[in-house]
Amino acid sequence: MRAVLALAERVALVDSPVLLTGESGVGKERITRLIHAHSRRARGPFIPVNCGALPESLLESELFGHVKGAFTGADKDHKGLFEAAADGTLLLDEVGEIPLGVQVKLLRVLQDREVRRVGSTETHAVNVRLLAATNRDLEQMVQERSFRKDLFYRLKVVSLEVPPLRRRREDILPLAHQFVRRGCATYHCGPCSLSAAALDKLLAYNWPGNVRELEHAMERAVVLAEGKPKIELTDLPPEVLQGNGAAAEDDASLTLADVERRHILRVLERCGGRRKETARALGIASNTLWRKLREYGLIQG
Ligand SMILES: Nc1ncnc2c1ncn2[C@@H]1O[C@H](COP(=O)(O)OP(=O)(O)O)[C@@H](O)[C@H]1O
Ligand SMILES: [Mg+2]
Repeated sequence: MRAVLALAERVALVDSPVLLTGESGVGKERITRLIHAHSRRARGPFIPVNCGALPESLLESELFGHVKGAFTGADKDHKGLFEAAADGTLLLDEVGEIPLGVQVKLLRVLQDREVRRVGSTETHAVNVRLLAATNRDLEQMVQERSFRKDLFYRLKVVSLEVPPLRRRREDILPLAHQFVRRGCATYHCGPCSLSAAALDKLLAYNWPGNVRELEHAMERAVVLAEGKPKIELTDLPPEVLQGNGAAAEDDASLTLADVERRHILRVLERCGGRRKETARALGIASNTLWRKLREYGLIQG
């Protein structure tokens, strides 16, 4: 994590694109704000856009803008986020969700450094630093042709991989204390701290939702502690107490079957439920996969 932050500060001053990868909730967006704050554009706007939240046509006009009459309901000219972020930083969050059609247009904007609003023939110069974040494996998406290779290389001039919380366990307690302090201030409930038993549970848990999950768990704990000076076990979420969400790869208590089941599910999900593809990715025959799915109760029959 220190290496990631050091690199983030170094690249902040250079105006290059940066691609941040890592699981959801690890702090990617937070780091992009840090990059912006340390850059020469710090006084300019920082505009995050969640590319996964909008359908294709809306995303296009959000990013590039549109002119009056470009489509039904376009009753006036609309400046896109590229123009709004002028002299600042634009964060394309969940960049892996951008549909191929918009990817082409995005690539053109990056190459020509100018945007054309939807429905317009004029172009406007853009002066924006582009940052991108994703929890998807873009390289894999490039191989599957769901993400353009040329755009991928444009975005990942510098790439930063933010590690999951379970890979930097030393961060758990400092973050937990910080979130508890903040919770106490938000709810005006007087200072409270975590009991030793609670700390122990926080350390034992694998935090699949990463920092975001820890943040929510601590806010909840402060509320449930109802002004008591100590946060006890009963104030923690049940999954933390039970140790659910333990990561397969470093939990020695899991059986081989547990790990296999989990891995098959993960690959199946990545392959969008397509069994042939899944079998190929797992390096096993289709009928072997079929048998395992049945054996594990993952399919009927
Ligand atoms: N080092 C940190 N210190 C304090 N809060 C953090 C830290 N890292 C992440 N967070 C918080 O955790 C939550 C998730 O972070 P975010 O940057 O949105 O993650 P991501 O973009 O990777 O999903 C946010 O509320 C953020 O403020
Ligand atoms: Mg995010």
